[in-house]
Amino acid sequence: MDISVIAKKGSPKSEMIYHEDTHALHIGTLPDHAYFIPFAKGQNAFAERENSQRFELLNGLWDFVYCESIIDMPDDLTDMRDHKTISVPSNWQLCGYDKPQYTNVNYPIPYDPPYVPDDIPVGVYGRDYDYTADGLRRILCFEGVDSCLYLYVNGDFAGYSQVSHHTSEFDITELLHEGTNRLTVAVLKWCDGTYLEDQDKFRLSGIFRDVYVLSRPEKCLRNLRITAKPDGSFTKGELRVSVEGASSKLRLYDGEKLICEGEASEDKTFECEIADVRLWSAESPYLYRLEIETDSELIGEKVGFRKVEIVDGIFRLNGKHIKLFGVNRHDSYPDTGYYADREKMLHDLTLMKRSNINAVRTSHYPNAPEFYAMCDELGLYVIDEADLETHGCVCVYNDLKWSAENAYNGIALIAKDPLFREALLDRERLLVIRDVNRPCVVIWSLGNESGYGENLREAAKLIKSMDNTRPVHYESTYKLDETPDDILDMVSEMYTSPEDIQKFLEREDEKRPFILCEYSHAMGNGPGDLEAYHELFMKSERLIGGLVWEWADHGVILGYTADGKPKYGYGGDSGEKHDDGNFCMDALCYPDRTPHTGLAEMKQVYRPVRVTRISADRFAVNNLLRFIDAGEYLTCNWEITYDGGKAASGSFDFSADPMGSAEVTIPEVAQSFDRDAYIRFIFVAKNGYSVFADGEEVCFDQIKIFTAERKSVPAEGEASEFNETPLKFEITAGEIRYVFNRRTARFDGIFKGGKNLLAKPMEYNFFRAPVDNDIMKNDWYAAHLNDYITKVYETSISAENGCAVIRVKESFGWSIHQPFARMTAEYRIGNNGELDIKCDAEFSNKVEFLPRFGLRLFVDKDFDSVDYFGYGEYESYTDKHQASYVGNFSAKIADMHEDYIRPQENGSHWDCTRMSLTNGCDKLDFLNPDGFSFSASEYTQEELAAKRHNYELVKCAHNVICADFAMAGVGSAACGPQLAGKYRLPLPKISGRIMIVPN
Ligand code: GAL
Ligand code: MG
Repeated sequence: MDISVIAKKGSPKSEMIYHEDTHALHIGTLPDHAYFIPFAKGQNAFAERENSQRFELLNGLWDFVYCESIIDMPDDLTDMRDHKTISVPSNWQLCGYDKPQYTNVNYPIPYDPPYVPDDIPVGVYGRDYDYTADGLRRILCFEGVDSCLYLYVNGDFAGYSQVSHHTSEFDITELLHEGTNRLTVAVLKWCDGTYLEDQDKFRLSGIFRDVYVLSRPEKCLRNLRITAKPDGSFTKGELRVSVEGASSKLRLYDGEKLICEGEASEDKTFECEIADVRLWSAESPYLYRLEIETDSELIGEKVGFRKVEIVDGIFRLNGKHIKLFGVNRHDSYPDTGYYADREKMLHDLTLMKRSNINAVRTSHYPNAPEFYAMCDELGLYVIDEADLETHGCVCVYNDLKWSAENAYNGIALIAKDPLFREALLDRERLLVIRDVNRPCVVIWSLGNESGYGENLREAAKLIKSMDNTRPVHYESTYKLDETPDDILDMVSEMYTSPEDIQKFLEREDEKRPFILCEYSHAMGNGPGDLEAYHELFMKSERLIGGLVWEWADHGVILGYTADGKPKYGYGGDSGEKHDDGNFCMDALCYPDRTPHTGLAEMKQVYRPVRVTRISADRFAVNNLLRFIDAGEYLTCNWEITYDGGKAASGSFDFSADPMGSAEVTIPEVAQSFDRDAYIRFIFVAKNGYSVFADGEEVCFDQIKIFTAERKSVPAEGEASEFNETPLKFEITAGEIRYVFNRRTARFDGIFKGGKNLLAKPMEYNFFRAPVDNDIMKNDWYAAHLNDYITKVYETSISAENGCAVIRVKESFGWSIHQPFARMTAEYRIGNNGELDIKCDAEFSNKVEFLPRFGLRLFVDKDFDSVDYFGYGEYESYTDKHQASYVGNFSAKIADMHEDYIRPQENGSHWDCTRMSLTNGCDKLDFLNPDGFSFSASEYTQEELAAKRHNYELVKCAHNVICADFAMAGVGSAACGPQLAGKYRLPLPKISGRIMIVPN
């Protein structure tokens, strides 16, 4: 519906004619420029921007009127008589208006560009603005508005702008009068730009970033371009500064020391050379201070000297190959939605540095300008991405070339559509122009998942014409035509398996380097494959590295629990028309940034040093850093442990050149042990390493130094006694009595002094509450692994070598099909009461993939503690145990639950040789010198599988102990490759073994 037709002529509403026009992108805005904030003369231009006398923040409560449809909006929308208030910045869906919708690929609206639905929801924002003429102009700046805005000053139309994640500036001086003025901003939920902003996120609207007014002289610095790089020998620095709008005096400081000065004007670029320059890198983010002074303004810019290049297919910084060990980060907060204030950004970035992460991709749009200044300071390599994603095109199916075979290519619909050429290029231009001076930005990214075609090729060309000092990245090279994509400087893929990356390396025709812009989908309990990727990254300099998907879960707050914790919701929790469920809960941190165990895992995989054993008592500390001696910033404490204690400990300092190593001798390793023993090297920070406090742990490495001989201890002396009836075996060994039910082939009881330590019969367990990566879970349910019927063919008991031995033949199945598994089991009860369990199962072809194979025990709640020797203290799995190490750990069962927002299997501990469960008086030891997994939980797997949210979970009346002969890995298959074969349980034949010792 054409608004100009329904609105009264000349009314504010009648100006709303640009949001369905892909050629009207910015009306009345000032020319775009590199981000900087002017200060008044005499001020500290490096202070936070709120300190500038020329900066006036308009954040705070604004008047607000929400209209469900633009059609019903009054003609004079600037008259806000019945207004409410809203906080700016925010998203109105989180403030009680409209609803958040989580959709990943699918567009939230019909695909009908340039049109959007007639009933566009509109948020009208209003506030007063006081003005006293002082000779300076007033520039009103919006750093982020979704999806577009119409601006009115005192009821007069001042301009229009779109591109949600970019700054729009309006010179409003001519519309102001002395005294109180009225600013009105009408924000539309959808515009033609919506087709270009189909990022996988909650769809939220409003003024979501800072709004401020800059007071600037008529003649002022309009734009500024800084190039700072080392010379060919990497010893001297070359600085070039060009200016637009006003001549400037420039002064470069190293700390407080002025090291060069000069002038720049429209026709004179400032150039200077710095001897013995200190280069910028993520490891050593050294910044100089550049002061720019014009007639009446002062601007402070931090300058980092560094050179990014690709030479012979190798990505280099300052002449050395670097790897990106990164994450993808969205602006997403449960309380403030898309708004990340400085504190929130700093918190994220500090936590990244503390997790040994060195790179961040601003998926999938530019972040607020201050984000980049923080990355400069902290040392993070940034892949800066344009505000572009058209993923929903894959589901549009209206292109002639579309067919079932090339369905995915449909993603390129917009990439080749001339209708969007200008709008798409606008987004690339805005990206580069704003952030070009930031040393942290090492790669430009054209956007995400928008297919490839002429528009994208032009986009790459445009970026190159604007900045030839950084390579261009783009992943989504799916095409509907033959447009060549060799203009891209690197080959980028997402979620490729390590095997396929290996194949890339073998390609003769491809000379560019390779980056995994997304990998190791960190959804729920995972990711399980980080180390495999890391090993591969380290093998070839052609591999730039990768960025894990993603940093933080996207959640909305649905309410609070009785104890005040937020109830986080995801897709489908707000009554959305269509949604993508919990696919937005796919990150390394919970919505409030509490780390998942996956983040600990990543921190360890991305560690700056790794230890290898070179001979019996000699070890090498390998420095993986490219620019600094790790020994300058890390010191090592080591300890030798075994089940039950610590054999020795010590510490050492070392020196290891970048990518070099240091050797160290630990003579204590050579002592003799009577059980498995391990040495652990713990590296702690010193001398102000990155964001770490001195003494804080940065990483560790553990190496097994002794494997004891595995001997079985045969029972000696008097045999345990047994009693046999048609339906029962009863075995007595000292004060322990076992009751075996012949009808169910289960132990109904393990009695100690008359008390049954089992609250329910002990059972076999083949199921786990599916983790998000268990994409084959439907097969498990189809086979009824979670809910089986047993058939007992045979049970017998006999006395053998001092033991009572029960033998069983049984099967497990359900209606309709043959049993899914047949099993023979042997239970050997020694005269000390120990129960040695051995079983061999053969699975039918109904089961291709088994999540776990083990035993489940229910015990009374007073059995509330465990003590174990194995991988702790984080939850650990066969493919997710880098953050854990083998050691002696004790825990309360209540603390062993990892509270994933969508409940799932959690809290397992891999490769344990002993687990002792106790109520303080009685104890059940679980033993297997070859290792087993266990979990101890207040929740059943059935409960975890049934509930959509953590806050709905109901505790079991008993504690649930799973002693698993084997537990499958977790992988990252929710989006990534299938779980690697070595992390699966071998089928069809599989055996189990464990010893249970009550005492
Ligand atoms: C990728 C996409 C991301 C996200 C992820 C799944 O394909 O680029 O934005 O959707 O999949 O979580
Ligand atoms: Mg997408």
